[in-house]
Order: sequence, then structure tokens, then C-alpha cells
Amino acid sequence: MSRPLGRADLPIGVFDSGIGGLTVLRAIGRRMPRERLIYFGDTAHVPYGSKSRRTVTRYSVEVARFLEAQKIKALVVACNTSSALALGEVARRVPVPVLGVIQPGADAAAAATRNGRVGIIGTEATIASGAYPAALRARLPRARVWSVACPLFVPLVEEGWWAHPASASAARTYLKAFQASEVDTLILGCTHYPLLKGLVQRVMGPRVRLIDSAEQTALEVERLLLSLGLGRRRGPGHSRFFVSDAPERFLKLARRLLGVRVPRVELHAFD
Ligand code: DGL
Repeated sequence: MSRPLGRADLPIGVFDSGIGGLTVLRAIGRRMPRERLIYFGDTAHVPYGSKSRRTVTRYSVEVARFLEAQKIKALVVACNTSSALALGEVARRVPVPVLGVIQPGADAAAAATRNGRVGIIGTEATIASGAYPAALRARLPRARVWSVACPLFVPLVEEGWWAHPASASAARTYLKAFQASEVDTLILGCTHYPLLKGLVQRVMGPRVRLIDSAEQTALEVERLLLSLGLGRRRGPGHSRFFVSDAPERFLKLARRLLGVRVPRVELHAFD
């Protein structure tokens, strides 16, 4: 984490490769209704989940610098892939506290599991990075971890196919990998997966606890701001939205997928 700058009235920057990080923005807004938030969806470069560490890091640093130039007091990397691959570099390059979603999600899983067997699903890049197992073992050294990439989930969610037979079939196929594992906890390690919660729960069975890191991340953001004396105490909250491409599509998806009313989206292209 970098050196804190700024005052309590400055906004919190929230960044994702696209639309999914709105789940984190929503959780932060609910927990801290007085905070001002600036969201950036890097829609010109989404998906991050199939790209290399080098590329994801380059995109992430670019977005972080843009948000920092808006004068923020903290930065939340709401994208799991970016948190897994680029968090360290982002934190080195911006002079505000930086928080990702991996450690909060892993902490919640460590607290939830009873048998120490934890499953993780995420994008190809997140799973290949090993970031979740590392974060989990930092809390629970004896944890046994099963990780599975579910690359089709993101496009299925963006199509609005939460309960569609194609999504059910994809879920059954991917989640078969956990069959003999006896995991009692499963981390939904991608911004889009909470929207498939019902489906994933049905396939995994009622005994498996699903971890959605948005809530836990919001809690960590609150703790961090309070510990630094940076919580905003007065005035109403406010959110401002930026994307790097196709603001209309972002508006439509935000409404359709998350029921988030986005009044205005500003375009900031990097090239
Ligand atoms: N936001 C990404 C994540 O949480 C999912 C979408 C993408 O691949 O960019 O990993």
C-alpha cells in the first residue's frame, strides 16, 4: 500500500475492466453513503481475463493514473484479474492507498470454511496467477485449494443468460472439477460471477458457502478510510462514471445486469 494523500472529501476511485466492478461500487455506496465515488470501466480493453500479466498491468496502471489525476483519496481495484496480476505495480505507481478484491475475498473464505477445503473460480488469468490460493494460505496455511477457470461465464452473464440452459450446462461442466473435492466454500473470484450465484449454488449444492468479495471489499475500504481518518462525514454521496469506449453499451448493461441507474457516463479514451 502506498502513502496516503488527500482529504476526507476527495472521492474514492473504483476501477474495473468493464461493467462488473459496479457490484463493488454498489457495496461501497451502501456501506458508506456519504462517500463520493469515481468509477472507471476500461471497456476499450475488456476482457482482461484472457490477457497476459504485462498487458493487464499496462492497462491497469493507465487507468489508475487517470483516476489519480481526478484527485482521489484511495483506489479500489474492483477487477479480480487486475487485482491478481497488477495490484503491486498499481500501488507502486499511484500515491494513494490501493485496495484489491483478492485478499478480502480470501479472508472471507478463510473465515467461512469449516473443513479447510476451498474452491476458487475466476478468469483464466486470475486462476493462472495463483493469487487467490496464496492469499488464502497466508490466512489459513493448511487450506486445500481447488481452482477452476470458467471463461464462458463472463459472456454468458453479459448476455443476461443467468438461468439459461447454456449457462446451466457451462456451470455443470466447469464445476464438475469440484465433485470429489469436498469443498465447503467457493470463492466467486470474478466480478461477473455473483450474477450466476443461484445457478452455481444449485450445481454445488446447498452446503457449499459462496463468497462474493464485493461486500467484504467494501468493509475493508471502510476500515482503511476510518483508520486513516479519511471517512467522509458530511454531505450526500455521489458517483461519477467513466469508460474508455462505448458508453451507451455500458449504460444499457449497467441497467440490465445490475439494476444500477447510471445517469451519465463520460468517455475517456486512452489513445
Ligand atoms: N472484471 C474481470 C474480473 O473480475 C472479468 C471481466 C474480464 O475478463 O475483464 O476478473
